[in-house]
Amino acid sequence: MEQVVYRIRRFDGRKEFWQEYRFAHEANKTVLWGLLKIKETVDPSLAFVAACRSAVCGACAVRVNGEAMLACETPLDALLERFGATLVLEPLGNFPVIRDLVVDWEPKAARLAEAKPWLVPREEFSAEAGCRQSQAEFRRINAQTNCILCGACASECNKLTTGDDDFYEPFVYTKAGKFVADSRDGAAADHLRPVLARGLWKCVHCQECVTKCPKRVAPAEDIAALRRASIRLGLADNQGTRHARAFAGDITKTGRLNETTMAVKTDGLLKSATRLPFALRLLRRGKLNPFHFPAPVEGIDGVRAIVKAAKEAKE
Ligand code: SF4
Ligand code: SF4
Ligand code: FES
Repeated sequence: MEQVVYRIRRFDGRKEFWQEYRFAHEANKTVLWGLLKIKETVDPSLAFVAACRSAVCGACAVRVNGEAMLACETPLDALLERFGATLVLEPLGNFPVIRDLVVDWEPKAARLAEAKPWLVPREEFSAEAGCRQSQAEFRRINAQTNCILCGACASECNKLTTGDDDFYEPFVYTKAGKFVADSRDGAAADHLRPVLARGLWKCVHCQECVTKCPKRVAPAEDIAALRRASIRLGLADNQGTRHARAFAGDITKTGRLNETTMAVKTDGLLKSATRLPFALRLLRRGKLNPFHFPAPVEGIDGVRAIVKAAKEAKE
């Protein structure tokens, strides 16, 4: 391969347009090397952000052929082998764009602040005594400390793409989860309440945040841990917790879901009643049978043993 083509989605502050750049291929380079080459030798007006060039600062995340990645650590040759000589570069998804590949972190930072991503020391700690924790306690939050706020998870989050009114960027849950799990922190509910109010039970489990994170952080797992913590702390009067409990109850009882009672257990009688016209339509078309009570599946004892083991499993 002699030439590489970067097809870049650009934005000049008013209008969006596509521009192609060609440059000579060199082996063992990164995506960021190509951007710098364009800026230094072809078009100084191209805007993008990079600082550490070592996968530490999180500034250089961009979308290449539809996937968010760190430009400074992604080998160009691997992408060329996978996609061919033309790579399509775009700014991160689910972010407002300032110019070309530069996205606006201001609104994201404000949303992150709502989850109070800072340590609120427990009462027994003081300036004199310090704020100590054991290696084992640190290991519980080790993964989350690797988050460099690059935004790749937010870019690819399918729930966030449907709107950010009722859902945070995945890294917000990771940061909240870190402080809820931190043995030195004494304000778990303060980190939990904001995320509970905005989407903790609305993640659609697509796992994009896990597979796209360049630092192997797993926001989807942090969301699951936050859900468990919220129930443990008694913050359980919400639709998500009721649904999870109804789901677990049905599975333990018969190994199947009872779709008829699920809505009532999740939303309560009053709210479910508002869906009566919909339920009647389902009834008329034979999609719903209120008199069907699922019998236990074959092997229900095994199912119950799995549920019991899951309940007993330590976090
Ligand atoms: S969780 Fe991973 S992908 Fe998301 S901001 Fe942190 S480092 Fe980036
Ligand atoms: S698993 Fe949840 S948080 Fe992660 S990308 Fe999918 S919807 Fe977003
Ligand atoms: S330039 Fe800092 S992470 Fe890429």
